[in-house]
Amino acid sequence: MGMKRVYTGFLCLLTVLILSSRVRLCDGGISSNYVRKYNSNVDMPLNSDVFRVPPGYNAPQQVYITQGDHEGKGVIVSWTTPDEPGSNSVLYWAENSNVKSSAEGFVVSYRYYNYTSGYIHHCTIKDLEFDTKYYYEVGLENTTRKFWFVTPPKPGPDVPYTFGLIGDLGQTYDSNNTLTHYELNPLKGQAMLFVGDLSYADNYPFHNNIRWDTWGRFIERSAAYQPWIWTAGNHELDFVPEIGESKPFVPYKHRFSTPYRVSDSTSPLWYSIKRASAYIIVMSSYSAFGTYTPQWKWLKNELPKVNRSETPWLIILMHCPMYSSYVHHYMEGETMRVMYEPWFVNYKVDVVFAGHVHAYERSERVSNVAYNIINRKCSPVRDESAPVYITIGDGGNQEGLATEMTQPQPRYSAYREASFGHGILDIKNRTHAYFGWHRNDDGYAVEADSLWLFNRYWKLDEPSASHVMR
Ligand SMILES: *[C@@H]1O[C@H](CO)[C@@H](O)[C@H](O)[C@H]1NC(C)=O
Ligand SMILES: *[C@@H]1O[C@H](CO)[C@@H](O)[C@H](O)[C@H]1NC(C)=O
Ligand SMILES: *[C@@H]1O[C@H](CO)[C@@H](O)[C@H](O)[C@H]1NC(C)=O
Ligand SMILES: *[C@@H]1O[C@H](CO)[C@@H](O)[C@H](O)[C@H]1NC(C)=O
Ligand SMILES: *[C@@H]1O[C@H](CO)[C@@H](O)[C@H](O)[C@H]1NC(C)=O
Ligand SMILES: [Fe+2]
Repeated sequence: MGMKRVYTGFLCLLTVLILSSRVRLCDGGISSNYVRKYNSNVDMPLNSDVFRVPPGYNAPQQVYITQGDHEGKGVIVSWTTPDEPGSNSVLYWAENSNVKSSAEGFVVSYRYYNYTSGYIHHCTIKDLEFDTKYYYEVGLENTTRKFWFVTPPKPGPDVPYTFGLIGDLGQTYDSNNTLTHYELNPLKGQAMLFVGDLSYADNYPFHNNIRWDTWGRFIERSAAYQPWIWTAGNHELDFVPEIGESKPFVPYKHRFSTPYRVSDSTSPLWYSIKRASAYIIVMSSYSAFGTYTPQWKWLKNELPKVNRSETPWLIILMHCPMYSSYVHHYMEGETMRVMYEPWFVNYKVDVVFAGHVHAYERSERVSNVAYNIINRKCSPVRDESAPVYITIGDGGNQEGLATEMTQPQPRYSAYREASFGHGILDIKNRTHAYFGWHRNDDGYAVEADSLWLFNRYWKLDEPSASHVMR
């Protein structure tokens, strides 16, 4: 063993001693060895308070909203009535107005194996005022239910806005903790960027879709009041040809609406929206994305349309991460990375959020786009044009945490920890955004990992485009 090896080893040991609660490997960033509380990974029982059916005949349940247009002046309201179709209209009015308007939607239902859904309503409200609180009411006669939402400000480069980030939520006691921590976080999220894997109903025999209904009732307490921006994950596939369910995404597509047409998409599984100073592109990891496929063609046309003078923050959501150093699902996102990483670097995407791996991880700004089959340039390198990749698949579902990490921690990995939690992306203005990751075991205000993001388009004088502040 050479002197240099011994010296390096000594430095490593020293670093470990200095960072007492964190293990820093020489190769990469931080692998937190924080020990979370014991979790049992069981779904909350059907009679749990969070799954309570609202009282009254045919009472609307599973009420949730999402953005309903491209700019933020539209809202899609979805709800389910159990006994009969009832009304498809939503009554709505601005907080400071007595004028009530009504929008008309439509109703769908579906069968899945031997399950029959309730009457699932979707209604798009258009042409609302920006930055305004609205009340809305769904249901008929005796059993109407009233909620509210706040529209975002008009898109513009310096409009501050706060997004929540949750992935792989499920419906365990941990899921409930994650949602509670999101709700009680003093940095109030105004809209949720949900990176896929919603109910985990598919882990039940015959994908018992009753667990889709319970999930809809569980998230209502947040999703009826602020838009949840949907991304489809593998647990939305519900593809089981053995029991006659050979069409993917049937429960998901019936239950969740997205405003895909306004971004010229041909599928609800990939689309874009503008919200305040952010341009958000949602992709589908489980739909064809190779060259010439509809998703590829759409994204190819979409990226040049983003006007960074109007919406400086370009954010991509997908379920399966392109950079993840956990053992579970290792390299599953590799095909997507090979296809799209050059575009993300070229268009200076700010952040790519993903789920799938049930843990948290944040990358350095790296790219791996030089490889051409024969040149051996196949390792990620620092790249100031590259996005930060954040895996936030730690919502708390019944499958538990992905605890096994590849060793040593690769250089591209800046921070990783297997704990349940959520993220907050707090956009301040065209140049600065702050990202914080909150683990459920800490207090509501505590950030276990955080960083300032400097915009990819509005270049700054700072020597490094991202650095960690603790
Ligand atoms: C659906 O089929 C499963 C398995 O045969 C059975 O346990 C369940 O009770 C059935 N559900 C309905 C609604 O018929
Ligand atoms: C609505 O409420 C009225 C008065 O309480 C009651 O008479 C009527 O039966 C209710 N209608 C339904 C559909 O429950
Ligand atoms: C879920 O969390 C909410 C809010 O903290 C709490 O009121 C409720 O009792 C919890 N439900 C379960 C089943 O843990
Ligand atoms: C981009 O947005 C800016 C600011 O809103 C606007 O002035 C400009 O005209 C837009 N550019 C294009 C090509 O639409
Ligand atoms: C943008 O926000 C950052 C962080 O809050 C602040 O330091 C900076 O001065 C702001 N820039 C402008 C132009 O207001
Ligand atoms: Fe997943």
